[in-house]
Formats: sequence, C-alpha cells, structure tokens
Amino acid sequence: MQFQNVQPDRTTLAVILSSCAAMGLLEGGKQVHAASIKTLFHNDVYVASGLIGLYSKCNKIEVAICIFDRVPALDIACWNSLMAGLSLNSLDKDAFTFFKQMHGKGMIPTQFSYATVLSCCAKLSSLAQGRQVHAQIVKGGYVNDVFVGSALIDVYSKCAYINGAVQFFYEMPCRNTITWNEMIHGYAQNGCGNEAVCLYEHMIQSGEKPDEITFIAVLTACSHSGLVDAGIRIFNSMQEEYGVEPLLDHYTCIIDSLGRAGRFHELEALLEKMPCKNDSIVWEVVLSSCRVRDNVSLARRAADELVRLDQQNSAPYVLLANMYSSSGRWDDAKEVREMMIEKKIFKDPGYSWLEQENKMQTFLVE
Ligand SMILES: *[C@@H]1O[C@H](CO)[C@@H](O)[C@H](O)[C@H]1NC(C)=O
Ligand SMILES: *[C@@H]1O[C@H](CO)[C@@H](O)[C@H](O)[C@H]1NC(C)=O
Repeated sequence: MQFQNVQPDRTTLAVILSSCAAMGLLEGGKQVHAASIKTLFHNDVYVASGLIGLYSKCNKIEVAICIFDRVPALDIACWNSLMAGLSLNSLDKDAFTFFKQMHGKGMIPTQFSYATVLSCCAKLSSLAQGRQVHAQIVKGGYVNDVFVGSALIDVYSKCAYINGAVQFFYEMPCRNTITWNEMIHGYAQNGCGNEAVCLYEHMIQSGEKPDEITFIAVLTACSHSGLVDAGIRIFNSMQEEYGVEPLLDHYTCIIDSLGRAGRFHELEALLEKMPCKNDSIVWEVVLSSCRVRDNVSLARRAADELVRLDQQNSAPYVLLANMYSSSGRWDDAKEVREMMIEKKIFKDPGYSWLEQENKMQTFLVE
C-alpha cells in the first residue's frame, strides 16, 4: 500500500496497530507510529488507543502512558486501553487509580471499563474496591450485563466472599457459560466441592452447554474436596455426553484426585491410556501424590519420566532421594544421588531471603 503511495487513514493505522499488538511486534509497531506522526493521525483517539495497546502489550507501559498524556481529547476507548495495559503489566493499583480519575473527569465507563477494573480488584484480592465498583455498576446500569457480572463473581470468589458471589449469581437475570463457569470455579477456589458439583448439575439441567473450562472448574473442585468418584463420573461423561475431549488439565485433575486418595491402580490405568504422556506436569502431579501416599515405586517411574522429558531437571531425583531417605531406604537414596552425579545433574542452588533492617538479604545454600 505504501509503495503504491496510498495514504493510510486512521482505520488503516488502527487495524495494523492492533495486529502488531496481537503479535507483540514492537519494531513494526514503531514504524506504524512514525507513519501516524507523519500523517498527523497520532493524536486521533482511534489511533492513540491502538498505540497505547501496542506499547502496553510490548512491556513499554511508560511509553503508553506518555502517549495517553499527550492526546488532547481523550475518549473512553483511550482510557479503557490504558487501564487494560496497566493491568496487563501487573500495575493493577494504578489501573484502579486511573479508573477513579476517569470517573472524576465525567467519563462514563463502559462494560469494558468495568470488566477491566474488576479483574484488577480480583488480582489485588481487594474486597473493598470490588464493592465500590459494584455500587458504581448498579448506578451505571450494567448490573445485568453478563460479562460485568461474571467479573464481579470472580472478584467476590477470589476475596473469599463466596456468599456475595452466590447472591449476585442468583440475582442475575441472564447467565451464559462464562457466568456458570465463574461461579463453579468460585466454589472450587473456596473449597466448596459439593456446592460446585451441585451447581454443575444445575447448569446441565438448565440446558446450558458445558465447555472445557466448565470441566476444569468442576474437576478441580472434586479434586480439592476429595470427591473422587464424582470427579471420575463427570470426567467419563465429558466426551461421551457432551463431546468435550479431555485435555491435559482435565487429566491432571483426575490424576491428582486418584493419587491423593491412594487409588494407584486406577491412576496407573489412566496413565496408560492418556494421550499427553509427554507433558511433565502430569508426572509432577504423580510424583507429588506419591510423596503424600508414600508410593515409592510409582514415584520412581514418575521421576524417570520427568528426567526423560528434561535431562537437566534435578528436582524429581532430589524428591525421590528424599522419599527414599525418609522411609529409611538409604541404599536407594544413595543410588539416586550417585546416578545424579553420573548423569551430571546438579541440584539447583537454594536461595533464601530475609528482611533485615529494612533491607533484603539473600543467602545462597549449596
Ligand atoms: C513422546 O516423545 C518421544 C520422544 O521425544 C516420542 O518418541 C513419542 O512419540 C512421544 N509420544 C507422544 C505420545 O507424543
Ligand atoms: C503404588 O502404585 C502402584 C501402581 O503404579 C501399585 O501397584 C502399588 O500397589 C502402589 N503401592 C502402594 C504402597 O500404594
């Protein structure tokens, strides 16, 4: 387009900026930035909000703020873009401050502003701020919006205010899969396994279609609350009844519950037929549940698989050696240590830190 001397307009620039942001292409984005200055579109709100998005995505949040500060007539899209960028860069407190400033300047938040600021409250586990935003949502008339509502359920669940989450959930006039998932996940996070399973069944009865996230939420709840049989039943129904293929996360939930319950024969059968044997997370879960239940033979297999997948990972052998020594099997422990030396696997040095006279001290333990 440029070779043919076609001048970009604000739409061209905004579209290409959004592509650069999605791919994290900082250098390409800078060229577009330069082109926008040449064509005097850099202060256009549409383009500016694209630039803010680009620089935030590429970890250049200070540049994003600088651009924001220079836009003569900010619109809500620019504010939303900056708040999302701050949150993306883990500056959730600042995002909240900007949200308040925006309000002070008479800008009317949109559902996107609310969803962003609620996600900041959830990350900060700040119940007080979450409630403040809730009040504004009611005033602003967004209380019936499913996306805003789902974000609010997330805040209340993360702040362990499960009653608030449940009350809000039941008051919502309409729900979608995200809302149901959020509430089931909220129960799971708060250790309410039975409630999570009941809500999942309620979801099915009400005709909502579960997706893979639903199953992660409900299986996590089962695993954390020791509801092994309920978990297996739901896991088996995933594909047969709802056509959702189990993925790594679903397998690890079930492996975790079986391991914690000491049901190693079923665990082994599942390991055999599982497609994702080359993912180390599976074996880490197996290894950690073997430690809890003291199953040294399966721990050994898990450690071997972990080393097969990452030759230089010392953690599995260190755990295995510790398991052997804590059950008094000194010869086996010694053998593992010797094998580590032979394979030239070295334990990562341990670091420890301590606050002393307001300064952080680091200790290296070899
Ligand atoms: C796992 O990795 C090994 C070696 O890298 C490969 O031979 C094997 O086919 C892989 N298995 C699966 C199930 O992907
Ligand atoms: C450990 O797990 C294996 C299955 O891999 C099982 O056969 C064995 O009985 C278990 N041992 C203990 C002590 O639970």
